[in-house]
Amino acid sequence: MDKETANKYIKILKLTPHSKQRLILESNKRFKVIVAGRRFGKSYYAALYEIIPMLLKKDKKVWIVAPTYELASRIFNEILKYINNLPNFIIYSSAKDMEIITISGSSLKGKSAKSPNSLLGEGIDLLVIDECANIPDIIYYSYLRPALSDKFGKGVFISSPKSKNWFYKLYENSLHNKTSDTDVFHFTTYDNPYIATDDILNVFKSLPESIFNEEYLACFSDSKSFFNIKSIDFTSSYRDSYKDEYIIIGIDLARKTDYTVVSALSQRTGEMIYFDRFNKIPWMSIVERIKKCTDNYRNYICYVDSTGVGDPIVEVLIENNINVESIIFTHKLKEQMVFNLSILLQNKKIKLIHEDIIAEEFENFKSFYINESIKYEGINFHDDIVMSLALACWGYKNQTSSDVLSSIIIL
Ligand SMILES: Nc1ncnc2c1ncn2[C@@H]1O[C@H](COP(=O)(O)OP(=O)(O)O)[C@@H](O)[C@H]1O
Ligand SMILES: [Mg+2]
Repeated sequence: MDKETANKYIKILKLTPHSKQRLILESNKRFKVIVAGRRFGKSYYAALYEIIPMLLKKDKKVWIVAPTYELASRIFNEILKYINNLPNFIIYSSAKDMEIITISGSSLKGKSAKSPNSLLGEGIDLLVIDECANIPDIIYYSYLRPALSDKFGKGVFISSPKSKNWFYKLYENSLHNKTSDTDVFHFTTYDNPYIATDDILNVFKSLPESIFNEEYLACFSDSKSFFNIKSIDFTSSYRDSYKDEYIIIGIDLARKTDYTVVSALSQRTGEMIYFDRFNKIPWMSIVERIKKCTDNYRNYICYVDSTGVGDPIVEVLIENNINVESIIFTHKLKEQMVFNLSILLQNKKIKLIHEDIIAEEFENFKSFYINESIKYEGINFHDDIVMSLALACWGYKNQTSSDVLSSIIIL
């Protein structure tokens, strides 16, 4: 809307947009692409400054679309909360069906991109898509974009920058095409003055840097390297003065072509003090190689990945009086472990042995998003060194608070 209308609207509804939300509001373009960090106030902006003004008009159809039903309904309920503050505005609302009908004859529907059939049909006047980076190309091009054609509807596309899908293309194309019908905005979480900077700094310390850059600084990353190799501390030499200390050993057992990797950390100093990597040897020899490590220490624990092939080997390790804690990797646990390792590394709580093969694997360990969850991929599909250290760090005393981890994972 233009500046004058925006001022009037803000005054009548007694709103307090922050300066960056105001910039977006004052854009008159048909499409608005908003790339912004978590908690910038994207959903809040969409509800109060795009959706409500449209619903105040006569006979307008508005959709809010999100990647899943759960997310759509979370956003819908937020919107409902704001709209409920307007007395006598709603004549019908259903949280279950995600539908609101207003006194002016306009309607809002919440939709999930997971149900394409519900996205067919009617021409709409305003389409708001939240978390666009998690919505597949086909849904946007075949279902959502066409719904705006009948009525020359407006589009507000919001996301933090996870994958490079249609949303990224729209963002890039519009950045380079100044005459287009699209305005592009790029903001970080810091731009929301309602979020304390201290809070963001605390999150920075407890999140992998690559995830922080995406989620909070809203940077589309090119490299997708999960670890920042420059922020990792490497120790130059192996030391053998750790016999009496408590040692945490992480063991990633080989499956088919992979390597088995044994890594040990000192609980006291956080230094990596042992590294062994091998493949294509018989089971009993694997046990021997592990014993070669554990025999060095009086006080230790081995965290072993016992998923799949691991299980029988774990039994043999226990029979050999090796102190073992077996871990079954679920997707979520693996994600938490890699996050934990990354946070310990960037906060310099642990140091890695300086070996090319270790640095190389960390440098080439990539993360990418599939649907809403993060996936990892190592160099030539090898992630055994990273995983053995992730296992060791799982037992390390300075673990990240599980609260912080779970709050990140339920994005
Ligand atoms: N203009 C504003 N005035 C007051 N609070 C705001 C404003 N913009 C955002 N907020 C608050 O900031 C927080 C994050 O907003 P939200 O819209 O959920 O962020 P996002 O969707 O970007 O993650 C919420 O608590 C919201 O109420
Ligand atoms: Mg949001």
